[in-house]
Amino acid sequence: MTQELTSPSPAPRAPAPHRGPRWWRDAVIYQVYVRSFADSDGDGIGDLRGARGKLPYLKALGVDAVWLTPFYASPQADGGYDVADYRAVDPLFGGLDDARDLIDAAHEANLRVIVDIVPNHTSDRHPWFQDPELARQRYVFRPGKGEHGELPPNDWESVFGGPAWTRTDRGDWYLHLFAPEQPDLDWNNSDVHAEFEGIMRFWLDLGVDGFRVDVAHGMVKAPGLPDIGHGEQAKLIGTQVLPFFDQDGVHAIHRSWRRLLDGYGDAHGKAVVGVAEAWAPSAERLALYVRPDELHQAFNFHYLNTGWDAASLRAVIDASLEAMRPVGAPATWVLSNHDVVRHRTRLGGSLDRARAAALLMLALPGSAYVYQGEELGLPEVTDLPDEVRQDPSFFRANGQDGFRDGCRVPLPWSGTAPPYGFGDAGTWLPQPADWHRLTVEAQTGDPHSTLELYRTALDLRRRLPGLGDGEMSWQPAPEGLLAFRRPGVLCTVNTLARAAELPLPGRPLLSSAPVAVDGASAVVPGDSCTWWAI
Ligand code: GLC
Repeated sequence: MTQELTSPSPAPRAPAPHRGPRWWRDAVIYQVYVRSFADSDGDGIGDLRGARGKLPYLKALGVDAVWLTPFYASPQADGGYDVADYRAVDPLFGGLDDARDLIDAAHEANLRVIVDIVPNHTSDRHPWFQDPELARQRYVFRPGKGEHGELPPNDWESVFGGPAWTRTDRGDWYLHLFAPEQPDLDWNNSDVHAEFEGIMRFWLDLGVDGFRVDVAHGMVKAPGLPDIGHGEQAKLIGTQVLPFFDQDGVHAIHRSWRRLLDGYGDAHGKAVVGVAEAWAPSAERLALYVRPDELHQAFNFHYLNTGWDAASLRAVIDASLEAMRPVGAPATWVLSNHDVVRHRTRLGGSLDRARAAALLMLALPGSAYVYQGEELGLPEVTDLPDEVRQDPSFFRANGQDGFRDGCRVPLPWSGTAPPYGFGDAGTWLPQPADWHRLTVEAQTGDPHSTLELYRTALDLRRRLPGLGDGEMSWQPAPEGLLAFRRPGVLCTVNTLARAAELPLPGRPLLSSAPVAVDGASAVVPGDSCTWWAI
């Protein structure tokens, strides 16, 4: 007899267990890109109150923590990653009271809160940069080259395109690895160190449980700021150590922050974590950021950059786990974030594949990051008109690389037309007309929906002890498929476009697409992932 399984109905959800001081080791952390999450005041831009109102949604989804992208006072030259005042909330997003309320309400719901900290650069409107004398001490200024200093001091390029230097009215040049509105701080200056320690304490006192450290690989530059020697530097990022990225000197800064975080946590009886956004050339170099006296986690961009191919996935999973073993840090897994093309689109456009990729990620040992909207199966919006785009890389790279707005389109919550319950008015980026099928409302309670798939997977992850931080072992599988064992679960992945037959691995628990079970064998569809109880 053939038994078909789609999404089995799960038992009633367990209340979130208290996860103790090591909560972060297997946490599922949900990234809230604040301006695109939920709008409470009808200006078309998401805000902190909006996010607070959606905490029940996040609780029901079953995540452990929320990471909030920057909501600090900022001219918004780079979506808030250009901070003018690290201790203030930008009026676009609310006020400090709203931040405090959101943190408190999250804690009441047993959700941890991680906030972004942006230490590599500030906004050019930061008071330090506005004061010429302070600016010269605390940022990277150099005289230009050429007879009249008319050429930049070296050949470094901005990540967003164009030279990494801008000349001031006074004739010298300042470094900005990102937009000109984001001057790089000089971490040789002790005032810079002291200021960031103060900023961290400020947010810790407000109750946050950790920091996502922006550009954690960038603060220290090679002495003498040497030329790189060739163009197309953007392609080199993450493939080799550069004079401005992944310099060994950054680790002393991370060690000092770990002391601060541990000291604060010990004094307040809680675990406070640091998460590195570090683009390192290898899993081994990435592991340096999470040595026992440095940060707790680092985003695994090697995983994010891996295509939908069984052998490559297995290789990157092995390399990630092996690199973390000697340092004792948990591996992390991520498919999407606010800087990359949404994984549904990146992996080829198929929802089946996006769902399979999600179930695979959630079955791996360690901690997983879920970017808002991936639980709805949102695709990248690829047809935004130029006039609505806001990503600075779009303008600096002449439209060549303007990808980051397409993953930042406001979430569809309910209803049949834009703004789909995002707020009362419009949205800062237009939403597609066909997103009514993808709203939270449309997917809730539909056992075939992607939202219910995520909910069930997260629920099972909580119930099955060891599925988060436990062991993993590969099992034999035909070419193009993966099979691995986790405590209580065997996970199969079919990366091929066609169905495959397997010896029955166990009792089907959850599948991204219907599997057929017949006697001692099972047929798993193409582009699918299944969890089997063993
Ligand atoms: C990080 C952020 C990105 C930002 C950049 C500069 O990569 O994720 O959004 O543009 O840093 O701060």
